[in-house]
Amino acid sequence: MVQKYRFGEPIQTDSVVEELPISSGLPQYGTWEAGDTFSFRCRLKDTDMVFGLGEANRGINKRGYIYESNCRDDDEHFEHKRSLYAAHNFLMVAGEDGEVKGFYFDTPAVITFDIGYTRQNEMTVTSPWPNLDVYVIWGESCISVVKQFRKIIGRSYIPPKFAFGYGQSRWGYVNENDIRRVVAEHRNAGVPLDMVYMDIDYMQDYKDFTINEERFPDFPAFVREMQAEHIHLVPIIDAGVKVEKGYPVYEEGVEKGYFCKRADGSDFEAVVWPGVTHFPDVLNPEARKWFGDWYRVLLDAGIDGFWNDMNEPAIFYTPEGAERLRGRVESIFDGEEGISVDNLPWICREIKNNPEDYASFYHNIDGKQVRHDLVHNLYGYNMTRAAAEAFERLVPDKKILMFSRSSYIGMHRYGGVWTGDNKAWWSHLLLNIKMLPSLNMCGFLYSGADLGGFGENTTRDLLLRWLALGVFTPLMRNHSALGTREQEFYQFEQTDDFKDVISIRYRLLPYLYSTYLKAAYEDDMIFKPLCFVYTEDSVAKNIEDQLLVGEELMIAPVYQQNAEGRIVYLPEEMMLVRLSGEQPVETEILAAGLHFVKVALNEVVFFIRKGYTIPVAPVAEYTDAVDYDNLVMVGYKDRYEFFEEV
Ligand code: GLC
Repeated sequence: MVQKYRFGEPIQTDSVVEELPISSGLPQYGTWEAGDTFSFRCRLKDTDMVFGLGEANRGINKRGYIYESNCRDDDEHFEHKRSLYAAHNFLMVAGEDGEVKGFYFDTPAVITFDIGYTRQNEMTVTSPWPNLDVYVIWGESCISVVKQFRKIIGRSYIPPKFAFGYGQSRWGYVNENDIRRVVAEHRNAGVPLDMVYMDIDYMQDYKDFTINEERFPDFPAFVREMQAEHIHLVPIIDAGVKVEKGYPVYEEGVEKGYFCKRADGSDFEAVVWPGVTHFPDVLNPEARKWFGDWYRVLLDAGIDGFWNDMNEPAIFYTPEGAERLRGRVESIFDGEEGISVDNLPWICREIKNNPEDYASFYHNIDGKQVRHDLVHNLYGYNMTRAAAEAFERLVPDKKILMFSRSSYIGMHRYGGVWTGDNKAWWSHLLLNIKMLPSLNMCGFLYSGADLGGFGENTTRDLLLRWLALGVFTPLMRNHSALGTREQEFYQFEQTDDFKDVISIRYRLLPYLYSTYLKAAYEDDMIFKPLCFVYTEDSVAKNIEDQLLVGEELMIAPVYQQNAEGRIVYLPEEMMLVRLSGEQPVETEILAAGLHFVKVALNEVVFFIRKGYTIPVAPVAEYTDAVDYDNLVMVGYKDRYEFFEEV
């Protein structure tokens, strides 16, 4: 059962697509206050577990910490951080008696979730802005509450099939030859590859919807050359539009009044990668349409995938904020030696993400000027919506890959997410595991982390272990930052190990794709914590480093340096499956309980649940080459039911 309650006069976020009547009175649960500010307070029993919050820090069970929805461009995902790039305000309190209560706080402004942090048996949700819709959902299990929630927010985005292949990315591929090399290394070594990502350097001076013609003299021809190799190029688009006379996106935006404005009506300025930029007012439907239409420039060149970045929106600094840097910033753009643009966020650390900046510009929503900080968490969502709505208009018969850094619930209908600038740390591999089910609860099915780690220098074993997890994540992309150790597979010794692991993605693709479609069509999760399925198992609720993938599989990724394997908990008898490159499938039945399972660096190990079966394909070098006619059934039966696209 879902009930909707309204406090004040909320700004509509369009995150919920189902029309629900507004219930009178207040939910008979906890205490609610909506005066100058909003607060909700409820008791937590000792045994209650709390799940949700999508792309958030820490564990799957969120209890014991404080989280904030305030989308931030912050590349330091330390354990104490309260907010990351997204705002996913859905959570569930699951009691031991089986009763589960779900809450969705639909507010585009900042909101804080103190989940047994200040007082261990109390959950307090507070927002300085008392205008919001709250949905309360009752169910007999976490899955039932998730499904009811997912139903009201609408079907999750389904990307094109190639998006389930492997992608190689790096901030630092600058020209055609850099990309040609990536493709050649993969093809020559027989390491599968479907996508190469283009970071900001493909643009002319970081200007959206431009191509640097020196580096890419005939871009459409280059796109075709890559297509002939079965490679999809996936360019980045940033939120900020460079302020530059003669640049059509800038000129048009100014002329039509489609950029966010200061209180005095002038166009708001923020410095990001291109230098001074304006932000397209994607919360205004007309401006959203206008910005979305610009994607045509790349669609026309044959591009069929994008990643939207810097859309919290990131602000390194504003001219107003720069005053506080006392002249240091000017020297960057005067070309002072030794300072390059990639140092900007670091130099601007003290004035980056400044709340005063976010309170100093305005959107035009239905003719009303709305201060940005009141709708802050909607920006990335609506930038991505701009693109997706444009794809519907411009290329209605084509599926386009789209994922974003910042997001709000509702954006899950338009694209996926990647989880931003993690680090080449073992702890971030574990964080990746823990975030996956929470993202699914909030509708984000197409998701993945930068495999190998974005910041800092990766190591061979960390990358291999992370890829072995990435085999299961819908977005499987190796991405890293400028200045870090290069981490394409061919930068390391014994490259066959990488081939063995990445190939498994393609062998499992029929299963993974079908599982994805099933989860999308049935409002289900791909990744579930063990306790969502083994509800009676008192050990399962303590396990956050193993996940169910679809109905059939359980994974237990290795996430520790030098580990030869790991301890795995089996809630019931399962079939261990060991895969490596083209090697025949090895299986072994293991009894319920604890096992130490050895996993070599070139292997992918997982477990098939008792009574289930999965299809395994031969190795393929790209998604279109996966041979669906020669599948081997592995598991307890000889039949598998595929979910097909409708
Ligand atoms: C941001 C993105 C990262 C990208 C970089 C340069 O940090 O999160 O993925 O490589 O910008 O565009």
